[in-house]
Amino acid sequence: MLRTAICDLLGIRYPIFCAPMGFVTGAELAAAVSQAGGFGILQAGSRTPAALRVEIGRIRSLTDQLFGVNFIQHFPHDAGVDVCLEERVGAISFFWGDPRRFVERAHRQGVRVIDQVGSVEDARRDADSGVDIVIAQGFEAGGHVAGTVSTLALVPRVVDAIAPVPVAAAGAIADSRGIVAALALGAQAAVLGTRFLASLESTAHPEYKQRVVSAGESDTVHTTLFNREWPGAPHRVLRTPFVERGDVSGSEAIGRLSLGKDQVPLFAGTSIPPTSATTGEIDSMALYAGQGVGLVNQVQAASEIMRDLVAGAERILASLGAGA
Ligand SMILES: Cc1cc2nc3c(=O)[nH]c(=O)nc-3n(C[C@H](O)[C@H](O)[C@H](O)COP(=O)(O)O)c2cc1C
Repeated sequence: MLRTAICDLLGIRYPIFCAPMGFVTGAELAAAVSQAGGFGILQAGSRTPAALRVEIGRIRSLTDQLFGVNFIQHFPHDAGVDVCLEERVGAISFFWGDPRRFVERAHRQGVRVIDQVGSVEDARRDADSGVDIVIAQGFEAGGHVAGTVSTLALVPRVVDAIAPVPVAAAGAIADSRGIVAALALGAQAAVLGTRFLASLESTAHPEYKQRVVSAGESDTVHTTLFNREWPGAPHRVLRTPFVERGDVSGSEAIGRLSLGKDQVPLFAGTSIPPTSATTGEIDSMALYAGQGVGLVNQVQAASEIMRDLVAGAERILASLGAGA
């Protein structure tokens, strides 16, 4: 049976997280994954505290299951964290920074703390300060990449270093085989980003989803090209003619993003991926994807993705004699 101690910790049915994806994971995707028994994590993004509260309310109108909210610590986030603690969401999740100062306050409100790291050192720091779940992110991962070590090598090292603190594995896990492999490495959950990017509920631009569906395992690049709003932060994107040229010097806008009433101009090298609210040169923007992208062959409803992942993982576990 596909169940681990993390399921009890978070009150979820299956140890599958939908990775928070900036500009791509909104209320619909987070709610659909939680509703299907996984753990959906909203990306707080640049929302004002009031807008974040509205988005949390939208998730709650779509599901009565628990969900998380994610913050990238490179960007301002204190006010958003306050909203999440007042709203008592299931978990607050962090990336790219030290989460220690939030732990005690979150626990007082009954909110779990999740942090994503790319090294054993950062995992130890988190575990020592009471972080509830550490996500070990391998170098294969899509989006921004914290470390340099592959998922297969990093996850068991982190598991051993911080036991009994539960670890979730991220990076190129895109089907049920990857989920079972993550459990075999000692992780108690798998975190999937790229696979859920190609869901009906993700707000990625339709051309971006199509590129993900048609890409193979060698079609991604680890780069710092798209660093306009977030300098020096390495990331993994699909290889496109724009990425091959590597020229972000142009001063003309290459597209626009509708954010409420505002039309935000986007320039070459923007770290904002194209969404359904983006117009312009979609293929010249950051098409974040992990090396598991070759395993993503269609755009599906998130509930269908969850159903396939769970059924496949349970089949594999049964064939291995697990839980017999
Ligand atoms: C489009 C995209 C956007 C991402 N944005 C975020 C983010 O805002 N916050 C975060 O913690 N992680 C973000 N990530 C990284 C994920 O948390 C996770 O590590 C990654 O998706 C796992 O690799 P995979 O894509 O191969 O499944 C993003 C990943 C992708 C693909």
